[in-house]
Amino acid sequence: MSTPHNAASVGEIAERVLLPGDPLRAKHIAETFLEGAKLYTDIRNVYGYTGKYKGVPVSVQATGMGIPSFSIYVHELINVYGVKKLIRVGTCGGMHINVKLRDVVIAQGVTTDSSLVHQIFGGAVNYSLISDFDLLEKAVNNARKFNTPVKVGNIVCVDRFYNDYYDVNGIFGDGIHSLNEKLVQYGILAVEMETAALYALASGAGVQGLGIFTVSDHLLTREEVPPHERETTFNDMVKIGLETVIED
Ligand code: HPA
Repeated sequence: MSTPHNAASVGEIAERVLLPGDPLRAKHIAETFLEGAKLYTDIRNVYGYTGKYKGVPVSVQATGMGIPSFSIYVHELINVYGVKKLIRVGTCGGMHINVKLRDVVIAQGVTTDSSLVHQIFGGAVNYSLISDFDLLEKAVNNARKFNTPVKVGNIVCVDRFYNDYYDVNGIFGDGIHSLNEKLVQYGILAVEMETAALYALASGAGVQGLGIFTVSDHLLTREEVPPHERETTFNDMVKIGLETVIED
């Protein structure tokens, strides 16, 4: 059986999956890191591959950008294809001054402006979206082994890339002009657009989820990693993801 969004038959996707947003990054990961990688879907040009990393079956599935697109692929990976370990490998915007361009950020927790938590719990609780601790611990250890600078903490997952949360209503407090400043005051490290869905879906299904990112741009300094350097920093993060996803 396949789905309207994924051409794979059940059994063609490994229990361990890496999740880049960009289909061409999925292709790059499969061709650079996996042995015997086979394309199992190209519906909408959103590629998915299965191969082996150090002898262990691993899939890499592109998700597109944002919670709605991401949730379709990940829901089906978990509920149709039986995936048990899911690691998002993406980029994020640095927000905190302690986070530098090219750092690897690992999301211990996710704060979100998405209505997803409200939709799940009907507003009864403000559920904490957290990573799987076992994957988190392994990823931190692997990053240290590779001497990759890594920051671990809370991130924000937003529904709009272009937003302007200025404090027009004066609710953020004296001297605080934007929601971003308030979030940084409360320790938010970085911003991206998918991981709230990963932690909600994985937790709800009792499987393991983790989000790892490279800082591609910085909201405070306005710096950006130049395009020719993105592949190198991306590969460092992918190695951490692959080493982590194959461990038992
Ligand atoms: N905002 C939201 N998502 C992102 C960003 C950003 O600045 N950079 C990479 N993903």
